[in-house]
Amino acid sequence: MKATAQAHSNIAFIKYWGNADEALRLPANPSISMNLAGVETVTTVEWREDLGQDTLMINDAPADAKATERVARHLDAVRARLGVALKANVSSRNNFPMGAGIASSASSFAALTVAAVSAAGGQLSERELSCIARLGSGSASRSIPGGYVEWQTGETHEESFAFQVAPEAHWDLVDVVAIISTGHKEVGSREGHGTALSSDYQAARVAGATDRLERCKAALFERDFGRFAAVVEQDSNMMHAVMMTSQPPLFYWQPASLVVMDAVRRWRSEGLSVCYTLDAGPNVHCLTTAQDADEIERRVTALSGVQRVLRAPVGGGAVVLG
Ligand code: DP6
Repeated sequence: MKATAQAHSNIAFIKYWGNADEALRLPANPSISMNLAGVETVTTVEWREDLGQDTLMINDAPADAKATERVARHLDAVRARLGVALKANVSSRNNFPMGAGIASSASSFAALTVAAVSAAGGQLSERELSCIARLGSGSASRSIPGGYVEWQTGETHEESFAFQVAPEAHWDLVDVVAIISTGHKEVGSREGHGTALSSDYQAARVAGATDRLERCKAALFERDFGRFAAVVEQDSNMMHAVMMTSQPPLFYWQPASLVVMDAVRRWRSEGLSVCYTLDAGPNVHCLTTAQDADEIERRVTALSGVQRVLRAPVGGGAVVLG
């Protein structure tokens, strides 16, 4: 009753921010992302007869009560779906900094879902795995399929899942992440989703999300970087405008984030294919093409306030390793 699974983090081009249903994690708007190759979580789940409670190790150290509780609640969803009564030992390992705007919850809950289901002998479709992963963390639904992925809102648990819109090989985009801080953020996305509606701008952001998603997909299908860049930056800016105007306000941008964003706009005007997007943290994801990735990595590394750079091409879906 033991299995190990691997899942990649993902970066959203059109963002998920705010839930229509908090309990089921039905998102207020659809989103689209690419998986990040090499930015991954590997998780082992062992269901055991002799355990009184679920246990969690993260990067070889016992996890705190809050993280363990969140994983136990997610295992409850898997237990309910598969009719399992056992508790589990969970051991998870990330190869990237946690809590710094690189979504560790996405890869973590995708890997946890696939490992837990596989360890229990369950045979579920990609769609159903995506629905279950969503209950743990919304963006985890998008780390189940590979390549470029859309998560549709849906009105029920079964309807809210992510699916591939284009395979990895469709377009050789690369995410060059400018790491500005690796510290834990004070307010995570979990709390943030709950306050999104306290911003007057959230309704407008949600109202235009489907249109932006369609523009983003069209640019993706046509590999039109100029149109892609315009809508990706607009969508990130809109989400941060909502964050900054929520109660309490959430400011994730740091001075160095603005330095990178400004440089990215300048480099694009010089002819490089690059645009930025930021999640719930100060790190700036600089999306570029394989052709321009070396140059962008060199330039981002040289900017003041950038601690280091992490580079990820388009990644595959969640898989069972054994
Ligand atoms: C800003 O999926 O991390 O990264 O469901 O509460 O775990 P929970 O939230 P999460 O939210 C992601 C928010 C975002 C945008 C995105 O990835 O779409």
